[in-house]
Amino acid sequence: MYNEFSKIYNKLVYDIDYDFYVNLIKAEIDKNKIIPKNILELGIGTGNLTERLEFKVDSYFGVDLSQEMLEIASNKLKYKENLTLINLDIADFKIENKFNVAISTLDTINYILDSSRLEEAFRNIYNSLVQKSILIFDINSENKLRKVLGDNCYVYEYGNIFYSWQSFLDKEAEIVDFVLDFFIEENGIYKRITEEQSEKIYSVEYINKLLIDVGFKEISYKDFDTGRDVDENSQRILFTALKE
Ligand SMILES: C[S@@+](CC[C@H](N)C(=O)[O-])C[C@H]1O[C@@H](n2cnc3c(N)ncnc32)[C@H](O)[C@@H]1O
Repeated sequence: MYNEFSKIYNKLVYDIDYDFYVNLIKAEIDKNKIIPKNILELGIGTGNLTERLEFKVDSYFGVDLSQEMLEIASNKLKYKENLTLINLDIADFKIENKFNVAISTLDTINYILDSSRLEEAFRNIYNSLVQKSILIFDINSENKLRKVLGDNCYVYEYGNIFYSWQSFLDKEAEIVDFVLDFFIEENGIYKRITEEQSEKIYSVEYINKLLIDVGFKEISYKDFDTGRDVDENSQRILFTALKE
C-alpha cells in the first residue's frame, strides 16, 4: 500500500481542495483558542496538507507507514524548520515528544481495519498530547464507503493517467477493498500500476465512543467538504476533540 502508488499520488488528488480543508482546520484550532506549538501529523503522506499549514512551531512531527510517501514529503518540505518525519504505524507508536495539536487527513483513520487497534491509536495520540490540546482528523463516511464506493467501479482519465477504481464491500466485516489499476502513458507506452487498499467503515457514533473512552472531551464533527452539519450525503467527516 502506498509503495509504487506514491509516485502518482500527487497527480490523483487534483480534485481535493486542500486549501478549503486547511481553512476549516485552522478555524477549529482558533475556535478552541489553541496556539499551535508542537504539531503531530498522522498519515502525513506526501505532505500536501503540511505545506499549506503555515504555523511557526517549535516542532512538527509527521508520521506515516509508507517510507515512499515520506521520501516525497521529505523532498517537498525541505524548507520547513523543525520538521521530523518518522516511519511509524499510528496504531502502534509511542513518541516521547509531546504535542498540542494532532492532525490527520484524507481518511488515514479508515485504513486501521481493526477497531481495537483504532482505540489503541486514539490512546497513543491522547498520551502524546499535553493538557489543553486538540485532535483534528477526518474519516470517510459510512455513506461514501457503503453507497458511493460500495461495490461500484469507476473509470477516470486524468492527464496521462487512465485508471479504474473497483470497490468490493464486505458487509459482514464492514470493510471495503479497493483495487486501483493505473495505466500511465509515457512516450506512447502504458505502464500499469496496481494498488490494493482496504478501508474500514466506522460510524460517527462509534468514533465518538472511542474518543470518549480514551479521555477526549468536547467532541464535535462536521461535513469536511462543506463545513456544514453532517447529513446523509456527507462523504468526509471532520472530527475535533479536546484534551483538557
Ligand atoms: C490518503 S493518504 C493521505 C495523506 C495525507 N494526509 C494527505 O492529506 O494527502 C493516507 C496516508 O495514510 C498512511 N497510512 C495508512 N495507514 C497508516 C497507519 N496505520 N499508520 C501510519 N500511516 C498510515 C498511508 O501510507 C498514506 O500516506
